[in-house]
Amino acid sequence: PFYKAMFGLSELEEKIRRHFGLQQVVIVPGDADESPVTRRELGKAGCSVLRKAMGNNDVVAVTGGTTLAQVANQLTSQTPLKGNLFVPARGGLGESLDYQANTIASTMAKRTGAQYRMLHVPDHLGEEAYTSLMQEPNVREIVEVIRKARIVIHGIGDAMVMARRRRVDDTVVEAMTAEGALAESFGYYFDRNGAVVHKMLTAGLRLEDIMGTEVVIAIAGGRSKGEAIAAVMRFGHDDVLVTDESAALEIAAII
Ligand code: F6P
Repeated sequence: PFYKAMFGLSELEEKIRRHFGLQQVVIVPGDADESPVTRRELGKAGCSVLRKAMGNNDVVAVTGGTTLAQVANQLTSQTPLKGNLFVPARGGLGESLDYQANTIASTMAKRTGAQYRMLHVPDHLGEEAYTSLMQEPNVREIVEVIRKARIVIHGIGDAMVMARRRRVDDTVVEAMTAEGALAESFGYYFDRNGAVVHKMLTAGLRLEDIMGTEVVIAIAGGRSKGEAIAAVMRFGHDDVLVTDESAALEIAAII
């Protein structure tokens, strides 16, 4: 039964990979919604994909969330990755401390002997705040570094779960729902076809930066995220997907 299961997963990986035109899909057994073991294994698989993508002098932008925290807490390197720099993909203050992109970037750097920089601004900015923050040389300088990252590793969430977690205004949630928001990733909300239906003004990575990033790695699992993951894959700018069996089965059922 073990070999059968392994064979089944690699078929599923190939089916999803081909459908979305990805470079690589990695599926770990189980359901991250249900099992802490699967959540850990998902994180570990993310570590190995990330380590393989990294060279000697890369800027790596990371998003927040519990899945990325699983990656950060298991990331290791035999030799210090001195020339590499971890940065948050976006301002971090929308999430609780352990799951903020700043925390995750610094954990990854400390665990691997790499460097890190932080972005101390709220994730969600009004227009005026954005304009004046971007006039601060310190903020502007780090934002420029973030926007030129060679590697991005990001989580994916259900749109409504994330809107609630971020305390998005009811009126905005209603408008997004009417537009079919299903998935959230790096501050953007997507419908089932991968079209952007809502964005938050941010000092961090923007869509146009992600489109130009050399290596984009998505990591998300759990049956409840299957549709959201498929939506972000349809957006079409990821290179690698790291997921679990339950999410993959959901994805396979709708493609
Ligand atoms: O808020 C950061 C973020 O990466 C979101 O873009 C994503 O939807 C979410 O976290 C995923 O969080 P979790 O891994 O905890 O489900």
